[in-house]
Amino acid sequence: MATFPTKRLRRLRYNPLVRDMVRETALTKADLIYPLFVVPGNNVKNEVRSMPGVYQMSIDVVVEECKEVEQLGIPAVILFGIPDHKDEVGSGAYDPNGIIQQAVRAIKAEVKDLLVITDVCLCEYTSHGHCGVLEGENILNDETVSLLAKEAVSHAQAGADIIAPSDMMDGRVSAIRKALDYKGFNNIPILSYAVKYASGFYGPFRDAAESAPAFGDRRSHQMDVANSNEALREAESDIEEGADMIMVKPAGAYLDIIWRVKEKFGMPTAAYQVSGEYAMIKAAGKNNWIDEERVMIESLIAIKRAGADMILTYFAKDVAKFLDKNK
Ligand code: PBG
Repeated sequence: MATFPTKRLRRLRYNPLVRDMVRETALTKADLIYPLFVVPGNNVKNEVRSMPGVYQMSIDVVVEECKEVEQLGIPAVILFGIPDHKDEVGSGAYDPNGIIQQAVRAIKAEVKDLLVITDVCLCEYTSHGHCGVLEGENILNDETVSLLAKEAVSHAQAGADIIAPSDMMDGRVSAIRKALDYKGFNNIPILSYAVKYASGFYGPFRDAAESAPAFGDRRSHQMDVANSNEALREAESDIEEGADMIMVKPAGAYLDIIWRVKEKFGMPTAAYQVSGEYAMIKAAGKNNWIDEERVMIESLIAIKRAGADMILTYFAKDVAKFLDKNK
């Protein structure tokens, strides 16, 4: 093996063209999925307090936003709904005229080259903010799964292109797959939030989606942040149940998990750069403590380098603009 002075690793770093030539990881527009928060009303655009540049939008505004997203060359959005009415069983989630169902129909009618992914969960629709039906303080798994399957079907009926269950109940992927197939949606893919941790990084999302649990937390269904082997078991069971793509969430603090899941299963793998990751970069950027644009790109390159094929990120529009500017 050659050693110094024969071996000089810096040879490939002096010239920017050579650097471009040997670069191993690229971030492209095709990697991006942009999350959107839909609220009732007309002409509503409320900035989320803890997420500068992210808005709750009424359907008319969301449709315009989707046109811009399509123009920028971002291939997909994922929708989260905030209903005007919440109840114990989250009925707004599977109402054929619910906020998401209406939003999907409106977007699909006006925006052609954009994949609409819907997040399937009950937490935004329940009065208690939990991800399922409660008995006392316990979330009932199997009862919740039937409602999630109903929710998924109603999203598909509205025109959703991809269904993304984020609830972490056991068995929901197979229940959703069966329900979709039974209704003739056998070609609609499932992107499962297979590996989702009980993370403090979701804080700002709960402002955006108005979905903070009224009591307790999500540790009875979301994963313990200390576990890594368990992530492989979660991913494996979702794949066996029929997930077409799997997700790891959050992303930045879980690069090891993305890497292990990708290595082991070789599945199309998404990573979610969640609200807290975005908020931290934004806050430090606003204070001029870091170079926001540079750290944005670095954080996303790192997620791709770890093995993610696609990234859900609130920076999607900024990234698309950056890529246009730096062509
Ligand atoms: C649940 C859901 C959550 C996020 C996406 N889907 C919140 C939670 O599990 O509490 C968080 C996303 C983010 O923080 O950006 N419907």
